[in-house]
Amino acid sequence: MASTILITGANRGIGFELTQQYAEAGWRVVACCREPDKAQALDGVRSDYGEQVSIHRLDVTNSEPIKALVTSMEDTPIDILLNNAGIYGQRDASLGNIDEDKWLETFRVNTIAPIKVMEAFIDVVAASKRKVFATITSKMGSMADNTSGGSYVYRSSKAALNAVMKSAANDLEGRGISVVVIHPGWVRTDMGGPSALLSVEQSAKSIRELLGRVSIEDTGKFFNYDGTVIPW
Ligand SMILES: NC(=O)c1ccc[n+]([C@@H]2O[C@H](COP(=O)([O-])OP(=O)(O)OC[C@H]3O[C@@H](n4cnc5c(N)ncnc54)[C@H](OP(=O)(O)O)[C@@H]3O)[C@@H](O)[C@H]2O)c1
Repeated sequence: MASTILITGANRGIGFELTQQYAEAGWRVVACCREPDKAQALDGVRSDYGEQVSIHRLDVTNSEPIKALVTSMEDTPIDILLNNAGIYGQRDASLGNIDEDKWLETFRVNTIAPIKVMEAFIDVVAASKRKVFATITSKMGSMADNTSGGSYVYRSSKAALNAVMKSAANDLEGRGISVVVIHPGWVRTDMGGPSALLSVEQSAKSIRELLGRVSIEDTGKFFNYDGTVIPW
């Protein structure tokens, strides 16, 4: 039986490329996005791969569709659940200029939503062969790597994401579930911008190779896309 991956934010950027590459590699992909009606490129992937790719409406900050999706997946164990959806939030969040509402919204999407999605899917992932929860974080959430300051909103949301996923790694280890966070590199997407170092193809290929190797020995690690470990 084909392995299954669930990807949030699958309509563009890194999530879309991963959807394409996993489908191409023969995986079943549960592709989630906020607005399936507007996700033409994703619909094209579904047309190309038929039943191997299914598209589901999911705003990760909304608990009702998360529950509905879990119910519809009960007979489909999910080998890898990839929390990819994220926002940068306030770009000009410098000292003296931080917008509290935008900060809270960024926490909702980048920090709280991934753990709420995880909570809902624990049994579905535990029933699978691979049993992996992976979340796309950012090196900008690393304290050790922060030598340039600024980006208060995005940095703090990803640092807190790393903290909650470390707790989840400890809490779920007894069930044989691996929990990892992955920095995708600086990638040419809407978020990363045109000057970024990596193409989405390179980033997604490396993330797939890394996820192919992740085991319970790796639980609680903060990985770079190339498989090296980033200091917290
Ligand atoms: N690109 C980089 O250089 C870089 C570097 C480090 C980390 N990352 C991380 O990589 C992940 C993917 O980023 P990207 O570069 O691919 O960004 P992107 O091109 O801006 O795509 C972001 C994706 O997240 C989705 N999303 C945002 N809010 C959502 C919500 N509430 N519910 C569901 N989906 C939501 C977007 O959906 P809509 O189309 O509906 O908005 C879109 O599919 C993010 O977690 C980001 O923080 C990126």
